[in-house]
Amino acid sequence: MDKKLFQFPKGFVWGAATASYQIEGAWNEDGKGESIWDRFSHTPGCVQDGDTGDIACDHYHHWEEDLDAIKKLGLNAYRFSVAWPRVLPSGRGSINEAGLDFYSKMVDRLLKLEIEPYITLYHWDLPQKLQDEGGWTSRAVVDAFVEYADLISRTLGDRVKNWITLNEPWVSAFIGYEHGRHAPGHTDLHEALAASHHLLLSHGRAVPVIRQNCPDANVGITLNLSPQFPASQSVADRAAATWGDGYVNRFFLDPLVGRGYPQDMVNDYGDEMAFVQTGDLNTISVPVDFVGVNYYTRTIARSEKISEAENAPRTVIRGDEITEMDWEVYPEGLYKTLGRLYFDYDFPAIYITENGAAFVDQVGADGEVDDPARLSYIKRHLEQTHRAIESGVPVKGYFAWSLMDNFEWGFGYSKRFGLIHVDYETQKRTFKSSAKWYQQVIDQNAVD
Ligand code: FCB
Repeated sequence: MDKKLFQFPKGFVWGAATASYQIEGAWNEDGKGESIWDRFSHTPGCVQDGDTGDIACDHYHHWEEDLDAIKKLGLNAYRFSVAWPRVLPSGRGSINEAGLDFYSKMVDRLLKLEIEPYITLYHWDLPQKLQDEGGWTSRAVVDAFVEYADLISRTLGDRVKNWITLNEPWVSAFIGYEHGRHAPGHTDLHEALAASHHLLLSHGRAVPVIRQNCPDANVGITLNLSPQFPASQSVADRAAATWGDGYVNRFFLDPLVGRGYPQDMVNDYGDEMAFVQTGDLNTISVPVDFVGVNYYTRTIARSEKISEAENAPRTVIRGDEITEMDWEVYPEGLYKTLGRLYFDYDFPAIYITENGAAFVDQVGADGEVDDPARLSYIKRHLEQTHRAIESGVPVKGYFAWSLMDNFEWGFGYSKRFGLIHVDYETQKRTFKSSAKWYQQVIDQNAVD
């Protein structure tokens, strides 16, 4: 029998993604200002093994080589983020021309190589100066973000068409301000809720500004979404799944499409939501051209309100294929998520702006890095993507996370997500077997 071929639509966007703080290094070079991640990683005890992004993949100095690697991979798109404090060291006001030049040169070179740039404006490296004023908890940050979005889209908008305002506002707000595992390392639910609202408001205010500077812009926002499965049929587990969905998914999806904040969550948060002002929800629900989804795994919701002994036996059990992040490999969750974004939320187009897996990689004696588990992870997620497209969901592109191994936030360099292996001692880049396989997928516009 013929092997099954998953042919993708003509013009499907094949990319890979990175983020400034995770790859650039050069944390204080050429006039760059300090970011909350510089501050956080320099604070003892915040990042595993005391790792920092001071050097990371030294992409700031290796960018040409890295762009050549992207070309060699055959990608037709590259998603990267701009480091806000590299261009506006204090977050607003005086501009660092050297920083702007860096991104401008990168865009020129990408276009020369016929690789479409997808720019993320905010992938978590807030200027520390703005954090000193309260960061995302302060409403004043919104004006600063709009100023920054205006600067970047005015400077690059003649060449860059694709814009992502924010990467994963849930993570910025809740992991940064409620759980304390990311910069700025706070643990206060009220702060997280305010941060979350100001992030969404920044998005809503920035979209029209980008459109003005770049009339044929393709603008959207990227969310981390994870479908919630109740661990059992118990009422308590079902409620836990509904709550989890409200917390991570609906709290962002609903306001973006004009449904306002989900009522069950508003009831739960109560007075904590006092920072929402008249008109804000209207601003937040500005039409977008697409939504970006970062999908890694599903969540199995188990109620903590009753004891394990009292609760119904689990009927949904985590699969035994687990990545180095301790995330279950669950490709069907991507299919489910894509369908929901279109059929329930009506987004006009969807990009998978991140998907990938961390596994332990080793450079073999022959200098090769064989990573069959990552290859298989990506392959099965692409199959589910194809399945969604066949069901009528307008998925326009797929960006693997990540182009290369990099600084994985609180985990430092201990987790490798790259298609390209990075030796942090020598900065040598090596294509893993998953990269070579992805090269063929792109070449054939198909997975077989
Ligand atoms: C996402 C982030 C990205 C990377 C992956 C593994 O939440 O957007 O920067 O760290 O997780």
